[in-house]
Amino acid sequence: MGIQRIESLVFGADNIADATRYFDDWGLEATKRSESGTTYTLPENQTIVIGDANDDRLPSAPDGKNTLRETIWGVDSQPNLDAIRVELSKDRDVATDNDGTLHARDDAGFAIGFRVWDHIPAGIDAPLINMNDRNTRLNEPVDGDRRARPIRIGHVVFHVPADDWKGLSAFYQDRLKFRLSERAEDTGDFMRCEGSQDHHNLFLAHRMNRAQFNHIAFEVRDFDEIMLCGAHMKAQGWEPATKPGRHIMGSNMFWYFSTPCGGRTEYFADMDRLTEDWKPPVWDENPGYAMWIME
Ligand SMILES: [Fe+2]
Repeated sequence: MGIQRIESLVFGADNIADATRYFDDWGLEATKRSESGTTYTLPENQTIVIGDANDDRLPSAPDGKNTLRETIWGVDSQPNLDAIRVELSKDRDVATDNDGTLHARDDAGFAIGFRVWDHIPAGIDAPLINMNDRNTRLNEPVDGDRRARPIRIGHVVFHVPADDWKGLSAFYQDRLKFRLSERAEDTGDFMRCEGSQDHHNLFLAHRMNRAQFNHIAFEVRDFDEIMLCGAHMKAQGWEPATKPGRHIMGSNMFWYFSTPCGGRTEYFADMDRLTEDWKPPVWDENPGYAMWIME
């Protein structure tokens, strides 16, 4: 099916000004601003679109209006996009926009879209580091005052109903060719799309037994940048939803904040990257939230 990544996320906001201030402070670059909404473009050319929660042109969501309204996945080619349309049309409505974007719904009722991706390599250098005799940061003191900015959108997480969570997960794996990366029977499935090595681009969590957006996550270069970005958010008056830490499943370091337009956003760095050789662990019990967390 050729799905490569999250291409665009569409939010409905009760208060567009607040939502815009949040994502400005988050470190995103606004490429379109108007009374009716804001569009942000990430360095790899993914977009976050903020619209009016009461704009009927936005897809409805199972968890209300002030929330993530649609997740649009990027596909590597038009033939693969056509194949998705054919596959999903077997058992659900698939609408096609003037720009070729497909719109449908998954079995939990979340709006999902697909379009040919428009990827621009961010060309961002790896962090410099000095460690024993492996030293790349030479004659270059750390700039602790710099404004760090997210590189890309990595993943989206939803709560889903518990009654058929494996069926919903199978929809993504069997119909859209996502691959299982890790499963906790008491929590849910972490999946990555076909063109990605990220431990997860999609996590479906069934513990809360409801259909609700949980969070989206933005990659930054390293833990320094998680702390720089988070400190900037706090200085602007935004409330952290967690403390910084490092997850067990996925190994990513994290810091979450609560958005004014539903759910949370996460800064993450150093997530596990998986190849075809990876055997997905299946846990009966969730191995835990974090291997360490700041107190
Ligand atoms: Fe996450």
